[in-house]
Amino acid sequence: MAKLLITGGRKLSGEVKVQGSKNSTLPILAATLLCEDESVLYNCPKLSDVDASIRILRYLGCKAQRSDNTLIVDTSNITKSDIPHDLMREMRSSIIFLGVLIARCGRAKMSLPGGCELGPRPIDLHLSALRQMGIEITEQHGELECVVNDFIKPSKIALSFPSVGATENVMLTAVKAKGTTIITNAAREPEITDLADFLNSCGARITGAGESTIVIEGVSKLHGCCHSIIPDRIVAATLMSAIAATSSSVTLDGVILSHLCALIPVFEQAGCELSYKEGKLSVSAPYKLRSPKLIRTMPYPGFPTDAQAPIMAMTCKSNGLTVFVENIFESRYKHVDELNRLGANIKVEGKVAVVDGVKHLSGANVQALDLRGGAALIVAALSAQGQTEILGLPYLERGYEDFEVVLESLGADIKKI
Ligand code: EPZ
Repeated sequence: MAKLLITGGRKLSGEVKVQGSKNSTLPILAATLLCEDESVLYNCPKLSDVDASIRILRYLGCKAQRSDNTLIVDTSNITKSDIPHDLMREMRSSIIFLGVLIARCGRAKMSLPGGCELGPRPIDLHLSALRQMGIEITEQHGELECVVNDFIKPSKIALSFPSVGATENVMLTAVKAKGTTIITNAAREPEITDLADFLNSCGARITGAGESTIVIEGVSKLHGCCHSIIPDRIVAATLMSAIAATSSSVTLDGVILSHLCALIPVFEQAGCELSYKEGKLSVSAPYKLRSPKLIRTMPYPGFPTDAQAPIMAMTCKSNGLTVFVENIFESRYKHVDELNRLGANIKVEGKVAVVDGVKHLSGANVQALDLRGGAALIVAALSAQGQTEILGLPYLERGYEDFEVVLESLGADIKKI
């Protein structure tokens, strides 16, 4: 079983390129099924979740080949419209294939995605929207069976919650509807905008992505395109946390500042100096961080839930109390017990976690229990005295490309064994 060995206390320095966004790559890979053509995707991160999506595309009959961070996907011929249980289980977000299979084949069959480390992951918003668009969906024995009666109906979809996945599934289905679909209370994440940009390059007609109301004019045919994936704002936030936690100064290359709108004030409140120029963000941290006081996770452009764990790790040694309120997922504090094993002082009560800054952390053996919680353990271990051993690397490999190599290039003492 591979593990990470980190000896903390080292400062980081230099410059590093931020990887492409996992949460943009996954829906765009699904979207290639609508093109019935070849597409080229640049800046695709090498992640196990991306590999899982490629396995699904190949199972359906597509050709997909990677050379470094470029993926060439040819979806001209597909031979199936179902995704088997074992492929569905590999990655929770494979539900994103539902809309594209319905739009491409008029039918889709897949098992219900299981819950995950973050708690139950319901898809009621996806299903009620698709039913409104005229798709007949039966759910039995954990299987979803979908059929389009006549055609995909253009609809007014009012999402009760700005769900990222539901917004994406509706967009992907509506691209082939007979008329115009309007989504209100849509998710506004940058990954939604990147997906819309990809689809529009393929001939779709989507306006309003990134705002709360998205308008999708149905088209009969799409073609392939070349597209470069946006940088991963959560990996950028994780690196910023590592820089702040180790009182370092580092430059991140390939950052879109507006994607970090809710994070910048948090790092400034903590005493970091940030400067941005032509896609490069320089972060310079003080010897001792101030506490950012209160952090509430919210849908974009609010504070991203995916950054809650790494930022919590950064506040473990800051001056004073930091209060976190996790409003998006119901169990996203699995990293707290592990951070406390490193000497942190964190108490959890429901969706609130209170971090009381301590003088120092000390190395220990800890276990990653989900993707971003694992990243938080790395951030804390880098700022701890002594050696930390981290198990559970498959979680990290879902979302961080060669993270130990990236950190080692900045001077961290980190080894995968
Ligand atoms: C996406 O998940 C991201 N995953 C998540 O990133 C991210 O945390 C999340 O959006 C929120 O930003 C990908 O993009 C692949 P949601 P998604 O639908 O689409 C509830 C990471 O670490 N909900 O916006 O599943 C749901 O239970 C991952 O990279 C319903 O109740 O998120 C959750 O509490 C983790 N019914 C909340 O909404 C539904 O039908 C947000 O879910 C759908 C969602």
